[in-house]
Amino acid sequence: MTHEPKTRNLRPETRNSNHHPALFVSIRVHSWLNSRMLSRRFRRLRLNPAVRDLVRETALSPADFAAPVFVKPAGPPEPIASLPGISRLNPEDAAIECGELQRLGLRAAALFPCVPPALKSPGAEAALDPSTFFHQAIRSIRSAAPGLVLICDVALDPYTPHGHDGVLDGRGDVDNDRTVAILAEMAVLQAGLGIDWAAPSDMMDGRVAALRAALDAAGHTRTAILAYSAKFASAYYGPFRDAVGSKKAGDAIDKRTYQIEPANGRQALADALLDEAEGADLLMVKPAGLYLDVLAALRRETRLPLAAYQVSGEYAQIHAAAEKGWLDLERARDESLLAIKRAGADVILTYFAKSMAAALQPR
Ligand code: PBG
Repeated sequence: MTHEPKTRNLRPETRNSNHHPALFVSIRVHSWLNSRMLSRRFRRLRLNPAVRDLVRETALSPADFAAPVFVKPAGPPEPIASLPGISRLNPEDAAIECGELQRLGLRAAALFPCVPPALKSPGAEAALDPSTFFHQAIRSIRSAAPGLVLICDVALDPYTPHGHDGVLDGRGDVDNDRTVAILAEMAVLQAGLGIDWAAPSDMMDGRVAALRAALDAAGHTRTAILAYSAKFASAYYGPFRDAVGSKKAGDAIDKRTYQIEPANGRQALADALLDEAEGADLLMVKPAGLYLDVLAALRRETRLPLAAYQVSGEYAQIHAAAEKGWLDLERARDESLLAIKRAGADVILTYFAKSMAAALQPR
């Protein structure tokens, strides 16, 4: 008979006794509880705000966030129903907005075009046309917010009528290598307009190496590549596709021949490390909150800075629950972002960026 497990937490000097073992256990446990001599009381570290502030391991700052900004050709701001608080902005308003983000202490904005159907084509030609509203808007945003890191998606989904991230081959699948050639030109165009970080979000094979080579050949050695490296085929992109109009109503587009299966954490790490080997400057995990295991694992596998994208569906579900009165909006927002940073993200793309920056202003 052994009573060792039950006495494991007792202080050593109270452990030897001549009592009968069964009696010994009950008396000892009782006096141990009465003695107030627990070896660890973690509540001492949570006692009051001062102590909690001193031992806090992770803190959020406006410099952690990048704000997505949706740019449309013209007209007044159009609120996006599934992204409360976020609107499509014309180029002039987008420039004003980016200036405002910079004033709030944010360090980055991620720009996305809302492309009207007339500019979409199977060959995605508008992606390479410097005269489109979006490419013109980049110039005015650049001068309105000179200190903001401007991030731009490199993918063809805004420019194709079907909403896939590339051009299609004869079988109706995305043609990897033809797409990569277009993406490389697209990144060079964006860099020339003043984009700081080209962000391939397409998940084609070989795109990072192709972008790096094309950027360098064009003299854009200062343009970084933020690779959407571990990008999963997620249901949580729905509101974003509403925002940019890359889906027809009720049409759930299937991107599983290029985005990663949600089941595959190891494959995501392999894909991300290949982006590093191809020359990516930063690696991204997307979505963020549902893939914290991948983020934490990638943190251990690379020395590069990591980005995480709290995607539209993650934002929308917090808002929806808060609207019903089921969650506290600010607390759920803060907790969701803190968790992403704690798991290892250096840069967090989030639709909460502006409200977080406002909440974190010094009083
Ligand atoms: C397009 C792109 C998507 C997002 C960012 N870039 C959608 C997709 O891959 O279909 C999603 C962002 C979000 O949901 O907030 N390449």
